[in-house]
Amino acid sequence: MFSAVDLATNIALSVAIIFASRFLWNYVRSPLKSFPGPLATSCTNIWRFWDVFRGRCDITQLALHRKYGSAVRVGPNVLSLSDPKLIGLVYNTRNPWIKSSMYNVNDVVIGGVRLSNLFSSRDEKWHSTFIRPVKNMYSMSRVQEVEGTMDVTIKLLFDKLRAKFVSTGQTCEMSDWINFFAWDTMSQATFSQDLGILEAGSDDKGFLRNSDRTLDYFASICQIPLLDRFFDKNPIMRIGPPTFAWANIFSLGQLQKRYQEEKKDTKQDYLAKFLEIKEKNPELVDDNVIILWLLSNVLAGSDSTAYTMSAAIYYILKNPEVHKKLCAELRGANLSLPAKWKDIQGLKYLEAVMRESMRVHPGVGLILERVVPKGGLSLPDGRFVPEGVVVGMNPWVINKNEAVFGANTDDFIPERWLQASGESDEVYQARFSKMKGTDMTFGAGSRACLGQYLSQLESYKLIATLFSTFDVELSSPDHEMKIINSWFVRTENLPVRLSERKDGAVFV
Ligand code: HEM
Repeated sequence: MFSAVDLATNIALSVAIIFASRFLWNYVRSPLKSFPGPLATSCTNIWRFWDVFRGRCDITQLALHRKYGSAVRVGPNVLSLSDPKLIGLVYNTRNPWIKSSMYNVNDVVIGGVRLSNLFSSRDEKWHSTFIRPVKNMYSMSRVQEVEGTMDVTIKLLFDKLRAKFVSTGQTCEMSDWINFFAWDTMSQATFSQDLGILEAGSDDKGFLRNSDRTLDYFASICQIPLLDRFFDKNPIMRIGPPTFAWANIFSLGQLQKRYQEEKKDTKQDYLAKFLEIKEKNPELVDDNVIILWLLSNVLAGSDSTAYTMSAAIYYILKNPEVHKKLCAELRGANLSLPAKWKDIQGLKYLEAVMRESMRVHPGVGLILERVVPKGGLSLPDGRFVPEGVVVGMNPWVINKNEAVFGANTDDFIPERWLQASGESDEVYQARFSKMKGTDMTFGAGSRACLGQYLSQLESYKLIATLFSTFDVELSSPDHEMKIINSWFVRTENLPVRLSERKDGAVFV
C-alpha cells in the first residue's frame, strides 16, 4: 500500500522526469547550440521568463551582449541580436519578417472571439489593410492638427501643479502626475474628452493600475506564449490579470456619444478623423474597425509617452549643466506657453535632450521578436541562423552601441546629437543620420511605432513648457528614480520640488 508520502514522492518524481525530458528534447532540437548564452537557455525558456519577471531584463541582455558579442542565445530557439547592420534586414519594410508568437499574448478574447490589434497582429495582410487608411494621420504634419487638444490638458496639469505643489511647497511625485497627464492627453486628442484622472488627482478608476498589471502579465508570459493558453486565453476558466476590456467599453461609449452629438463635424480629434474615413470607405470600415483604431491611441500611446517624459525630466535634473543649458535656450526663446510646436521644433538643445533621453531610456525594453524566414539568416560574421528561429533586438541594447552613438553610451550626454566644434557639416550630418537610423526607441521597419510623432509632439511640448514655467529640482540631488521593465519601461518615484520662475515669467 502507498502512503501519502510515497504518493507525493512519486508525483514529484514524475513531474521532474517530464520536465527533464522536455529540457533534453529542447536541447537536442535547439538549432542555436553553437551560439553563446547562459547554459539554461539551450534547453528552456524559463530562464528568460524569470529574467523578464524580475523587471530589468534590459540590464541582463546588455551585459550578455557585452560579454558574448552580437548574437546571444536567450532561449532554445531565440537569439538576441545587437549588430545595427541587421536592423534593415530583420525589420525590413518590403518583405516584413513575421512577428513571433509573443505578440499573440496581446490579443483579447471578447465574447469567445479572439481579437488582434494593430500591434499584436501577425497577419501582415490584415495589418496592412487596416493600418493603411490611418497611417498618414500620424505624420508630423498631421499630428499637429490635435495640438490644440494637448494644450487643454497641459493647462489643466499646470493648474493642478500650481494649486497642489507650487503654492504649498509640497514635494510633487512627478512620475505619477506625468502619467495622469499622458493618459488624459491621449484621451483628449482622441475623443476631445479626458479620462478625469488629472481632475481627480489620482488613479481612482484604476486605469493606470490595471494597465500596469496587464503589461506585467504580457511581458513575462510572452516569453513562453504557450502559458497564455492556460491563463488569459483559457477557454474553461480565464485566469489572468485585468484585461483591457474597459478601454473597449470606454471607446464604444465615446463612439456612441459622438453619433448623437449635433456638432460632431466641428471636432478636431482622432475619432472625428476615423469617422471621416468610415464615411468614405463604408465597405472597409465599420464600428469595430473604428474601435480598433481608437484602442491604438488609448492603450499604446499613454504610458509609453509618460515614461519617456518622466525619464527626460529625471535626466535633466540629474545633470545640472544640461538643466542650465536647456533653461537658457527655452527662456531665451521667449515662448508663448503652453509651448507651440512651431516655436520649439527648431530648438537644437531641446531636441538633443529629448533624443538623448529616449536613447538612454527607450520606452520599450523587450526584444522585438521576428521569425527568420525561408532561406535563413547569414550574420555579418558568417554564422548562420536557420529558418524558423526567433530573432530580434532590444532597443535598450541597440541604443547603447558605442560604434554608432560614440563613447560612454550608458551616460546621458545630449551633446552627442549636436555638431561638435571643428566637425564639418557633412561629417555631422552623416553621424546624425546614422544615430537617428539606428535608434530603435520606436522600433523599425513596417511595424515601427504608429504614434511616434504624436508622442514626440506631446513630450517636446510638455518638457518645453515645464522648464519654461517653473524652477524644478529633485527633492534630493542623490535621488535615484525606480525603473521597472515590463515591456514599457516604467518610471516610478520621481519626487521634485516646483516653484515659480525666479525671473518672473508669465504662463499664458
Ligand atoms: C514614447 C512613446 C512611444 C514609444 C517608445 C513607442 C514604442 C513602440 C515600439 C518600439 C513599437 C514597435 C513594436 C514592435 O516592433 O514590436 C511600437 C508600435 C506601435 N505603437 Fe508605439 N510607442 C510610443 C507611442 C505611441 C503612441 C502615442 C501611439 C498612438 C498611436 C502608439 C501606437 C503604436 C502602434 C499602433 C504600434 C503597432 C504598429 C504596427 O505594428 O504597425 N505608440 N511602439
